[in-house]
Amino acid sequence: MRVITFTGKGGVGKTSISAATAARLSDMGLKTLIMSTDPAHSLSDSFEQKLNSEPSFIKQNLWAIEVNAYEDLKKNWHAVQGYYSRLLTVQGIPPIMADEMTVLPGMEELFSLMRVKRYKESGKYDALILDTAPTGETLRLLSLPEAMNWGVKLARTVEKFVLKPVARPLSRMSDKFAHVVPSEEVMQSIDTLFEELDGVKEILTDAQSASVRLVMNPEKMVIKETMRALTYLNLYGFKVDMVTVNKLLAEDEDSGYLEKWKKVQRRYLGEIEEAFTPLPIKKVKMYDDEVVGLKALERLAGDVYGDENPAAMMYDETPMQFVRHDDSCELLLKLPFANPDEIDSWVSGDELFIQIGNQRKIITLPVTLAGIEPDDAKFKGQWLSMHFSLQGTMARAV
Ligand SMILES: Nc1ncnc2c1ncn2[C@@H]1O[C@H](COP(=O)(O)OP(=O)(O)O)[C@@H](O)[C@H]1O
Ligand SMILES: [Mg+2]
Repeated sequence: MRVITFTGKGGVGKTSISAATAARLSDMGLKTLIMSTDPAHSLSDSFEQKLNSEPSFIKQNLWAIEVNAYEDLKKNWHAVQGYYSRLLTVQGIPPIMADEMTVLPGMEELFSLMRVKRYKESGKYDALILDTAPTGETLRLLSLPEAMNWGVKLARTVEKFVLKPVARPLSRMSDKFAHVVPSEEVMQSIDTLFEELDGVKEILTDAQSASVRLVMNPEKMVIKETMRALTYLNLYGFKVDMVTVNKLLAEDEDSGYLEKWKKVQRRYLGEIEEAFTPLPIKKVKMYDDEVVGLKALERLAGDVYGDENPAAMMYDETPMQFVRHDDSCELLLKLPFANPDEIDSWVSGDELFIQIGNQRKIITLPVTLAGIEPDDAKFKGQWLSMHFSLQGTMARAV
């Protein structure tokens, strides 16, 4: 099953482009399921049809779902949440706050993604399109089994240090301890949960069948956030194979009082190319109407993909790789246009600028590397290798 995940800031056109992609794939004869996990659903508007949390038939080969993230969260997290909530309450945190604290940001969506495994195993679909919330926060969470494992670790610690030494029947424990005993049910559901999540990550990072596509608009803040998403997706092993710049003012039409915007957009488009090359960058113009209904989606699919097959892997490499050594980090960047003789680079905040001849590359650095100037840069074939020393930084402490 081919899995394509769309992500990007709110309002940029993720849902429209996801729906257009799904419609095109179903036209090509692939049994396609599109699932919106963004709580701000609008897939039903795109298809002009009411949707719910089980697949609804749209047209031949096409089904769509709008999940209710809270339902999925409650189903999967209920037992565990109750346990943590009690644990926090024992420590003096008011119960209503405790309930909230057991849900990490992005977690609701995470549980909806567990459906990915179910749909893959069902064997019913050739393609699964995921229309996700802004901007990859959940994918990041999914990639942090260690951070997610806080729950497991905590439960085991309680068990090991609080319960085992006490070694007496539960009934005779003080009330305080009785509250923090994780039941077998809790332990079991934590274990199953993390196994499931591992399975989901495996599917979403499978190099043969899965990729992520970023959608953005030519606006400063949107571009910055999308650059950051690209860095984190690469860092956590997700393959990004395409970016789309949506809502560009058409060059060949008079845009009235927006004429000045065209110039601004042209400049931003240049910046987008500096940041996202060598990934394919698709450009879609701003229409004079909303993208609603199958006809509008087909036009959009045509503008994004032309004659290309949307199921193809649009770019089959990770153009940005981070390799961690003991007290340094190597950043490998694929730069097909490079002229090795003239490299200049500088860091400003969390942005790394690389000037090669008259071409420039900008990337967002992960937090660990922010503010650190690379101390070496050399080419290995088409790859620029940059070396960052982590000595004396916070990374050394961990
Ligand atoms: N190229 C475009 N031209 C005009 N309107 C668009 C275009 N792409 C998307 N839209 C409209 O913009 C709004 C936001 O799009 P949507 O796909 O829901 O974004 P997201 O899912 O990223 O929040 C919708 O009303 C949609 O119809
Ligand atoms: Mg949306």
